[in-house]
Amino acid sequence: MKIPVALRDTPYEVTLGAGVRHEVSSFIVEHLTRARVVAVITSPAIRRQPWFDFNFALEAHIIEVADGEAAKTLTSLGRVCEELARLGVSRHDVIVGVGGGAITDLAGFAAAVYLRGITVLHVPTSVVGQVDAAIGGKTAVDIAAGKNLVGAFHQPAGVWCDEETLSTLSDRERIAGMGEVAKCWLLEGRPSTLLARATMSEFVEVSVALKARIVAADEFEQTGQRALLNYGHTLGHAIELVSLARDPDELRHGEAVAIGLAFAARLARRMGRVREDVVVETDAVLDFFELPTRLTGTFDTSVLLEVMSRDKKAHHDLTFVLAGQHGCEVVSGINSVVVREVLEQFQEA
Ligand SMILES: NC(=O)c1ccc[n+]([C@@H]2O[C@H](COP(=O)([O-])OP(=O)(O)OC[C@H]3O[C@@H](n4cnc5c(N)ncnc54)[C@H](O)[C@@H]3O)[C@@H](O)[C@H]2O)c1
Repeated sequence: MKIPVALRDTPYEVTLGAGVRHEVSSFIVEHLTRARVVAVITSPAIRRQPWFDFNFALEAHIIEVADGEAAKTLTSLGRVCEELARLGVSRHDVIVGVGGGAITDLAGFAAAVYLRGITVLHVPTSVVGQVDAAIGGKTAVDIAAGKNLVGAFHQPAGVWCDEETLSTLSDRERIAGMGEVAKCWLLEGRPSTLLARATMSEFVEVSVALKARIVAADEFEQTGQRALLNYGHTLGHAIELVSLARDPDELRHGEAVAIGLAFAARLARRMGRVREDVVVETDAVLDFFELPTRLTGTFDTSVLLEVMSRDKKAHHDLTFVLAGQHGCEVVSGINSVVVREVLEQFQEA
């Protein structure tokens, strides 16, 4: 199945299904006719997986970077660019990012800046990668001041979400990835009662379709539509940042988003935007995916409030995506006293 990302200048397709990773080579031959070299960016852990069996019709090289978030550094970016230059990768050649969201973010950024921009294709292999990171053209690395603070918009020319790659994910990575799926399910207003009948490929499909539609409507986050994808992310980012500093293993991004979704439902109810049933329904969706619905670990409320008001997407006041009568919308200028109150109850619950 193919889902179009209908951008005006750089439209592309997301291909979903079992074994679709094998279509990347023919895409390059058919569509990137001037390409001579394929540079695959991946990590040793990804390269070891049984499904890492790419066979490119062109000269192909593998560039290994660190696994996970450690790939997303300026040093790593520099090494990749040096390697691309050493391999003689030209403006007509192509980078293929194979891995989780960290790898596709780095591969996308390298493609955005190397020779002022070359083509990138993604084969995302984690749930987060498939439903979120690889689609939409946001690329970045982290710096000491924060995650994703240095990056660029650079759309891929194609994305292949191969469900076979998901089979080797650890339970924790798979479940955490469902945090983004839960977000999409809730944004689409789908009832929790339909979850039990859906398959993993349907979850990916629903999420990719939503992301593709929103990205096509607001590529550069200018009309506010793309900001809807930050549902659950205001608190999610804050607890991710705080927990990352003390133990990188404490919380996965998707787990943080799940907690953020549960909190956003409660904040919306406290502000009179929705009734209790929205809180119950949100928890039911998160429970189905075995995701957390409470703030676990010890978080200082004042620190979280401070981090949330600094969130680069928050424009220096408290901004949340909240459910309301007409679905979810971005709500700015929220009184921090109310947020603190709901947060304190949420932690105690
Ligand atoms: N660009 C965007 O729009 C966007 C959106 C969401 C998230 N992100 C970024 O994505 C990153 C998170 O992505 P992630 O959750 O995929 O984490 P990740 O890329 O750090 O991968 C997590 C772990 O899963 C492993 N893994 C990935 N695929 C695997 C597979 N098929 N089998 C076995 N192991 C596998 C990786 O090796 C890694 O150890 C963050 O850096 C986040 O900022 C970007």
